[in-house]
Amino acid sequence: MGRILELIVVLFGAGVLSACPEKCFCLSKLVDCRSTALQTIPVDIDPSTQTLFLDGNSLTRIPLDSFRNLRQLSYLGLSSNCLLLQSNIFDPLPRLQALDLSANHLSELPEDLFGNLSNLTWLNLAHNNLHSLHLGKSLTKLTYLDLSNNNLTVFQETFEHFPQLDTLFLNSNQLKTLPETGFSQLLLLKILDLSNNKLSSLPSQFLNHHHKLTDLRLDKNRFKTFSATLFSQLHHLQDLTISGNIISYFPPKQFANLTKLLKLDLSNNSLTFLPLNFLSDLRELQLLKLSDNFIDTLAADAFKYNLKLVYLHLDSNNLRSLPVFDGLSQLEELTLSFNRLRGFPNGFADNLVKLNCLQVTDNLIEQWDIRVFPNITSVLLRNNPICTVKGSGRQATDIDCTKAQC
Ligand SMILES: *[C@@H]1O[C@H](CO)[C@@H](O)[C@H](O)[C@H]1NC(C)=O
Ligand SMILES: *[C@@H]1O[C@H](CO)[C@@H](O)[C@H](O)[C@H]1NC(C)=O
Ligand SMILES: *[C@@H]1O[C@H](CO)[C@@H](O)[C@H](O)[C@H]1NC(C)=O
Ligand SMILES: *[C@@H]1O[C@H](CO)[C@@H](O)[C@H](O)[C@H]1NC(C)=O
Ligand SMILES: *[C@@H]1O[C@H](CO)[C@@H](O)[C@H](O)[C@H]1NC(C)=O
Ligand SMILES: *[C@@H]1O[C@H](CO)[C@@H](O)[C@H](O)[C@H]1NC(C)=O
Repeated sequence: MGRILELIVVLFGAGVLSACPEKCFCLSKLVDCRSTALQTIPVDIDPSTQTLFLDGNSLTRIPLDSFRNLRQLSYLGLSSNCLLLQSNIFDPLPRLQALDLSANHLSELPEDLFGNLSNLTWLNLAHNNLHSLHLGKSLTKLTYLDLSNNNLTVFQETFEHFPQLDTLFLNSNQLKTLPETGFSQLLLLKILDLSNNKLSSLPSQFLNHHHKLTDLRLDKNRFKTFSATLFSQLHHLQDLTISGNIISYFPPKQFANLTKLLKLDLSNNSLTFLPLNFLSDLRELQLLKLSDNFIDTLAADAFKYNLKLVYLHLDSNNLRSLPVFDGLSQLEELTLSFNRLRGFPNGFADNLVKLNCLQVTDNLIEQWDIRVFPNITSVLLRNNPICTVKGSGRQATDIDCTKAQC
């Protein structure tokens, strides 16, 4: 998307267009006809136009020759219409670099639709109703493909014809299986989003070829566990989201090679404990979400090597007590609401010198001196006995149990 904006900005620099279709806005080689209740494509668009926005109209069937005079187009926005696409409609546009067909109720794509679009790098097909794919073999320069929010189910597409792809959105479909070989041709893939599907497993080699992957989303699926080596080649991964599954167990060394990881979201799973050394290789980790699990105890050294943690979320678990976390001197936010904590161990605050936001609502805390955290600016404590039992501790007068917010 950044590339497109850049392109638009560049186009703004050039000369001014004389003719402009009614209701549209024109500037240089850009024509903006968004949300103008168009039912047909205006005939008087200047042939030198490079950027054309037709999004948010009532376009349905587009006559075959509609783009014949617009050979210079490099961006075409057709999102949020009701398009009935025919083969060859885009044939006159070999220079097209970006095409937005999102939100059009498309249920399938005609064969050869993209046959002449060998310059296309950006294609958005999100929010349609696609249940199968015919993307053809011509899109060899494609780097960005959004197929999210469709109706893809049993999926055998391997994207072998799109070797340049670096961003692939397949989230919010009905995917139950993925091709056994994975997307092994996509050696440049950086962002892969498979969230909100019906996946229950991934082949153990599935991610082995994606050495450049930085961002992987597997949340809201049906995963119970992963093969021990699934993530082993993702040396550049920075952001991993696995929340909203039913994982109760991770094999040892599951994350051993994720040494660049900055964010890990394991919330909303079925973890009852953290295995020994589970996180010990994640030395760069800044954000860790373990909320909405069933964790009842934490070892004192659970986060021993995660010294760069800034955000730690442990709310909605079964914690009855906490150890003293040594070394989390970068921690700024700690969430512990909805557990069974009765208090904090002595010395708990000593190393948490940067902690400024603490959430401990809905626990069983009766007594605790908030002043052990001299630097804290926000505490959430409501729904603890300390807030309701009068005279149970002088602390209750030092803090506002209901209003303080993180
Ligand atoms: C589509 O591509 C073919 C082969 O490159 C070319 O011959 C043809 O003219 C193109 N179609 C249009 C309408 O430009
Ligand atoms: C791709 O775009 C370039 C320049 O924009 C153009 O010269 C070339 O002909 C286009 N490719 C095809 C297959 O038309
Ligand atoms: C998705 O596709 C299936 C068949 O593959 C169909 O039964 C179902 O109605 C589709 N869902 C929607 C929302 O169209
Ligand atoms: C880590 O990566 C190296 C090199 O790619 C590989 O040999 C090793 O098996 C991986 N280790 C784990 C625990 O996955
Ligand atoms: C947890 O995940 C399930 C399944 O994806 C989802 O339905 C539920 O809303 C999630 N709960 C929370 C608190 O995020
Ligand atoms: C409070 O913050 C200051 C400045 O960051 C730090 O030097 C000090 O150790 C902190 N005190 C405690 C008890 O966290």
